[in-house]
Amino acid sequence: MKVISTEYSQILGARISQRLGVSLVDVKFSKFPDGELYLRTGPLDEEMVIVGSVTGSDALVQLLLLIDACSESDNRLVIPYMGYARQDKQFQPGEPLSARAIARTVAHHVRGIYTVNIHDENVLRHFGIPTTNSSLGNDVADYLKSEFKDPIILAPDDGARYFAEQIAGSGNWEFDQLEKTRISGESVRMDKKDLRTKGRDVVIVDDIISTGGTIAAAAGMLYEQGAKSVHAACVHGVFTGGAYTHLAAAGLKSVICSDTIERACSHVSAAGIVSKALSEC
Ligand code: R5P
Repeated sequence: MKVISTEYSQILGARISQRLGVSLVDVKFSKFPDGELYLRTGPLDEEMVIVGSVTGSDALVQLLLLIDACSESDNRLVIPYMGYARQDKQFQPGEPLSARAIARTVAHHVRGIYTVNIHDENVLRHFGIPTTNSSLGNDVADYLKSEFKDPIILAPDDGARYFAEQIAGSGNWEFDQLEKTRISGESVRMDKKDLRTKGRDVVIVDDIISTGGTIAAAAGMLYEQGAKSVHAACVHGVFTGGAYTHLAAAGLKSVICSDTIERACSHVSAAGIVSKALSEC
């Protein structure tokens, strides 16, 4: 078995190969003069683990090219961050189910898919082949244990509840949940709620930070209620449109994510849970 990754998941790919104790395939990535993507792999194995987050259009195309280059092998595909997973319903007539479109597109020449905290597990059925979704809750909790003594863990909405409860449970910390209503892609409304956060360190946890709107709205309310410090932890640090700066300006004392999207603040690695899932099935 060997591991191969796109440019967008090269650190995580290397970590997974180290964890599994198998070779990493060297890949040359470049572009044709017209901007089309090109890649050329080193020698492959009969059994391959392909790693590539779908962080955008180029990442998706590069992943498709990599899967095709590996098409003679017995492949398993790791999609650490599956972009487009949030468009998993037809909210308005004429819209695509983008999550289904992506799932169907990448599921060729692979016999199993591995994801990390996919936005909604219902999306997994669209792959049409066996899938395993793992949660980084315990790993995020381990990181928080090294940083905080007795934080309160907050989920910004119902969707983040399971993840936040997993983290709070692992650290034996207090947990609460906010009520968020999404107004548009960029703006959210956070309903007022009395929280016992006065004088406390608060960590808001979510699967994705995209524009940062959710976390910034929550942080504002928490500071109004006397929180000592507000921090954020997520799995997938998308940080679009200057979101990290937006959060720092909103008073967040720290913001961390995992290496499903490789960032300077990727303090948690998905290599452990992904390698475990690959070893088990
Ligand atoms: C949405 O349901 C997700 O779990 C996140 O809460 C959302 O993607 C965060 O987006 P933003 O950072 O743009 O508020």
